Amino acid sequence: MENKISDRQFWECAGKLSEGRHLTQEQWRILLEGRSKERQRELARRASDLRDRIYGKRIFIRGLIEFTNYCKNDCYYCGIRRSNKNASRYRLTEEQILDCCRAGYELGFRTFVLQGGEDPYFNDERMAEIIRAIRQEFSRCAITLSIGEKEKESYALFKEAGADRYLLRHETADEDHYRKLHPPELSLSHRIRCLETLKDLGYQTGAGIMVGSPGQTTQTLIEDMEFLERLQPEMVGIGPFIPHHDTPFKGEPQGELELTLYLLSLIRLLLPRVLLPATTALGTIDPMGREMGVLAGANVVMPNLSSENVRGKYLLYDNKIHTGKEAAECLDALRESMKAIGYDVVVDRGDFLREDMK
Ligand code: 5AD
Repeated sequence: MENKISDRQFWECAGKLSEGRHLTQEQWRILLEGRSKERQRELARRASDLRDRIYGKRIFIRGLIEFTNYCKNDCYYCGIRRSNKNASRYRLTEEQILDCCRAGYELGFRTFVLQGGEDPYFNDERMAEIIRAIRQEFSRCAITLSIGEKEKESYALFKEAGADRYLLRHETADEDHYRKLHPPELSLSHRIRCLETLKDLGYQTGAGIMVGSPGQTTQTLIEDMEFLERLQPEMVGIGPFIPHHDTPFKGEPQGELELTLYLLSLIRLLLPRVLLPATTALGTIDPMGREMGVLAGANVVMPNLSSENVRGKYLLYDNKIHTGKEAAECLDALRESMKAIGYDVVVDRGDFLREDMK
């Protein structure tokens, strides 16, 4: 494919992207379809240099607490969709969540991510209560929520209670593609409205996609890049789509490692200061996935803090890495593997560095 796109064309577009200039759809197409091993290697080098100049050799860690796998939604790709009767459901209590934070704090985590399905049991009142309790005990840590689409009032309440950040992947910025991935009661427009509300309320906001989700094309990826440019999220989560055996997409192919890495580099170049995780899904499709993600421009890793008894149950996709290891052991291994590629896992909230905060 890349031989139809000349080096001159390709590097002109790459140069524009690096200079922070707006790309046309055609120019995005050239970057996305002009990928070759060599070009990808050079873009990863540029993305990595850019990240180093802004954040140094520092890798931020987030303690992920998967506190409920109940979900009222029925997304076609997701293993904890409500129709999956085989999912073994669980909820953590407030005390269990706080215990995860306590253990995480001791290990050096200064951000806690509360992630869950859209579980009506955790209504606004219960959520606000949990957030307040964490805020009270860990006044200097960041609290990130990843609990789906809510009303503006709820987001405002959580912010008031002490939440700092919110992750809500847009999944795809293309209407038709969105409908292929989700049941009719879910809409792209509502999801985007949620993201805009979160930004307006002052959350550090994360969007993102699955790479290689069924129906994804160069065109939908172009729309994703344009959407990210418009939204200017502080965080972007991307990882390969991985089929789950109890979903309608069980027979669909997995997203590609190399494309995921390439998109990480492009996103770093598009949004130089973005907090960009090398995701668990990336680590799941390749044992060196997270290291390769960092070398492509990522600067965040999100180890799991959930307790051992539930850790194997938050299964959005098949083969999710959950070694029987304790969080502490995982973190030591992570430190070593990052050290080996020249990066340091740091004890830090790892906030988005605004341009005026340099
Ligand atoms: N493969 C990869 N990622 C998935 N997610 C959900 N299901 C899958 C899957 N099968 C991602 C979605 C969601 C995030 C929490 O996990 O992008 O936003």
